[in-house]
Amino acid sequence: MPTKAKSPHLPFGDQQTAPWYGKDILSVKQFSRPDLEYIFGVAHEMRNMVERVGAFDLLKGKILANLFYEPSTRTSSSFMAAMQRLGGAVIPISEVRYSSVAKGESLPDTVRTLGCYADVIVIRHPEVGSAAQAAEACSKPIINAGDGVGEHPTQALLDVFTIREELGRLDNLTVTMLGDLKYGRTVHSLARLLTRFDGITLNYVSPDILRMPRDIIDEVAEMKVPQSEHSSLDKVLPQTDVLYVTRVQRERFEDPAVYERVKDAFVIAPEVMKSAKERMIVIHPLPRVNEISMAFDADPRAAYFRQMEYGLYVRMALLAMVLGKA
Ligand code: NCD
Repeated sequence: MPTKAKSPHLPFGDQQTAPWYGKDILSVKQFSRPDLEYIFGVAHEMRNMVERVGAFDLLKGKILANLFYEPSTRTSSSFMAAMQRLGGAVIPISEVRYSSVAKGESLPDTVRTLGCYADVIVIRHPEVGSAAQAAEACSKPIINAGDGVGEHPTQALLDVFTIREELGRLDNLTVTMLGDLKYGRTVHSLARLLTRFDGITLNYVSPDILRMPRDIIDEVAEMKVPQSEHSSLDKVLPQTDVLYVTRVQRERFEDPAVYERVKDAFVIAPEVMKSAKERMIVIHPLPRVNEISMAFDADPRAAYFRQMEYGLYVRMALLAMVLGKA
């Protein structure tokens, strides 16, 4: 459940008693299983509405500030699309070098400023803890869209929603995470979030230098979720229900030569997938570089493009929730 109430200003018509009204979304640690069921229920309704009518006016008159200090295609545009499909408006700031950040303005001052104009702020920033810092400075709800190698909670929510919509269940699943588990923030959020479900088994497959961080392994162990680390996919692929592929995060490497050595360690191609189940899915937060061959895209198990669309519905649900309309 959300912890901190924000927003001293309660505009007329908002459901001020809604549990997520005015709350920040900073980490998946905030979400219990009933919270997740609720979010996915709202996201599913958003999906039905978009399919039936395209757009509607639930957030008419509301403004989202989309503040991106790191590159983004899907996260930034899906938040913008989500806000606009709900009838709201967006202040997009993705070229921070053209904002006052280039004049040396601090993150707290920038979000305090945007909080004067917008009702909710989505932020992506290269430093771990930046979203929490922004939340301290601003009375409006802050949504973490990636804080360095820390977390990416809305991505994990859409990853789990994808699994639910595609496989029809969230319990009794073997989930294999592949690639850059050290620097990939999406797997940090996803591993934590999956501990909310029953009968989950986690496999981590990565080059030795890109293994899942110890603190996350310890957190997952505390929740009694079985997990194991591997250097090859062969042994775990046949039992896998969800293969979560990630990009090696070039921008986080200090030494480019090390990146070159590990960048193509794993490539998912049709031959590799012959030993996988017929009913399973391959997902990826995207962008992909080489880690999934385009030759696999036509396979029905390739769910990564459908996953992007599920992201729209989850982000619509989250915006409606923190703005007191869901
Ligand atoms: C991810 C991210 O930014 O962490 N992208 C995304 O939001 N869909 C994954 C990545 O960049 O590799």
